[in-house]
Amino acid sequence: GELGPFRNEPMIDFAKPEGRKEFPEAIARIRKDLGKTYPLFINGKDVSTSEMLDSYNPSNDKEVIGKICQAGKEEVDQAVQAARKAFKVWGRTPYEERVGYLQKAAAKMRERIFDLASLQVLEIGKQWDQAYADVTEAIDFLEYYSREMLRLGKPRRMGRAPGEMNCATYRPKGVAAVIAPWNFPLAISTGMVSASLVTGNCVVYKPSRLSSVVGHGLVDIFREVGLPEGVFNYVPGPSSVMGDHLVGHPDVNLIAFTGSMGVGQRIIEVASKPRPDQHFCKKVVAEMGGKNACIVDDDAELDEALHHVIYSAFAFQGQKCSACSRVIVLDSVYDKFVERLVEAARSMPLGPSEKPEFSMGPVIDREAQKKVQHWAEVAEKEGNVLVNRLPESKDADLEAGCYAPLVVVDGITPDKSIAQEEIFGPVLSVMRAKDFDQAIEWLNSTRFALTAGVFSRSPRHLERVNTDIEAGNIYVNRNCTGALVERQPFGGFKMSGIGAKAGGPDYLIQFMDPQIVTENT
Ligand code: NAD
Ligand code: ALA
Repeated sequence: GELGPFRNEPMIDFAKPEGRKEFPEAIARIRKDLGKTYPLFINGKDVSTSEMLDSYNPSNDKEVIGKICQAGKEEVDQAVQAARKAFKVWGRTPYEERVGYLQKAAAKMRERIFDLASLQVLEIGKQWDQAYADVTEAIDFLEYYSREMLRLGKPRRMGRAPGEMNCATYRPKGVAAVIAPWNFPLAISTGMVSASLVTGNCVVYKPSRLSSVVGHGLVDIFREVGLPEGVFNYVPGPSSVMGDHLVGHPDVNLIAFTGSMGVGQRIIEVASKPRPDQHFCKKVVAEMGGKNACIVDDDAELDEALHHVIYSAFAFQGQKCSACSRVIVLDSVYDKFVERLVEAARSMPLGPSEKPEFSMGPVIDREAQKKVQHWAEVAEKEGNVLVNRLPESKDADLEAGCYAPLVVVDGITPDKSIAQEEIFGPVLSVMRAKDFDQAIEWLNSTRFALTAGVFSRSPRHLERVNTDIEAGNIYVNRNCTGALVERQPFGGFKMSGIGAKAGGPDYLIQFMDPQIVTENT
């Protein structure tokens, strides 16, 4: 199997009429289908449970997207057992064949790209462009990991000693538990699932309760491409009931997790304790939260910086692990920059996500809404609130929608909790640094190291980007979100993760065990 060179799936310009035509039709189509019941998927079969959970539209909590069956420990056991059984064959299936399934899955996603994106608009409140980009990223993962497996799957000869043949290969680990967040509901799930599958592992997939209908899309796709039974299993369920059970299960070899720092730490802890009948160390791939900052230097192009900071902080309501939640502005340009920032934050159109005229919508659910409201109160205590806004438009139903305030607060220093904790909402802290040294020190002053932005034209300052900034993904003179597969392998360190870079050349190796065969010839 040869595939052409990797190319990122193209985006659409939704500012142009062509880009605007298909979305409303797709949303209407998806809407007709809302409210269905979604069973679990175990060993190639739908499995219903009596426990159910509703998933609702964050712009209107009366609109139920779907009723999702909930797995308990028993269903987790069944899914792990099915995966273990299927592994006997799947793990020995030639990697080119496994790549074939990913290729077919990518083709299916391409075919229904608007429907998959529209479902995200309704289930998690992504704006059109954000939702569409999530689906293109999912396709990118399928395409990129296909090519990566073709590269890594070939046995390699090691050394050149005469009379000896050394051959290096990778083997799959076994059963992978994939535990996904809701904020990139198709992309991150597809990334972790496809990496597990193409390397020869069988998957027990637990989507977030907030995006389980989008997550169920993977069931449809893998069914249609004819993946053998048991290779991919879908078990949404309450993590308080089945989370530890899945992670600690003696037959789960690998946990691929993306989510918050606290849950990641818990997973690392549970996975580290072997059960009596467990014959291996569990591998944990964990990508966690961020508290990302952008620095605005005294010679930055301010209009450009403003545009990128606003986008990084408020696109998708600031609910990206990569979002900018602190902007550190140098003293000499502070007043000028902050004045423009406030003006821009005040004029941002707020309203329901399905209407493209609004650039910011509701947060994911009632809990997130309360959390942001809480941080808006903390902002009052810890700093000087410059902007605190809810949608003014009649299109936004403030009762039925989970609208949380857009907040800009200045006078923040690193000792404040608002400068340290991940908020995961549209709250931007503004910090006045006396010079570039202090700006870098403040940027590095949290537990996290995920993304960072630097707006500067000074070569002397830009030289320090690589050596002095602690972040997995650093962006110079552009926004700090929207990493693309292959071009910007994504992931952080410190408490932001354990070093995995999704969409990059080091990723798949984590899902396999290396092996060397030495033959005396
Ligand atoms: P979360 O940590 O609350 O949940 C993530 C997943 O873990 C969900 O499926 C959840 O049900 C599950 N879970 C919760 N407790 C568990 C337990 N004890 N055992 C097993 N599973 C458990 O995160 P979220 O709210 O879904 O997503 C937002 C978070 O994810 C933010 O912190 C964000 O920064 C982070 N994130 C990181 C990246 C990255 O690439 N670094 C990408 C996206 C999101
Ligand atoms: N990969 C996503 C981004 O870069 C999280 O925004």
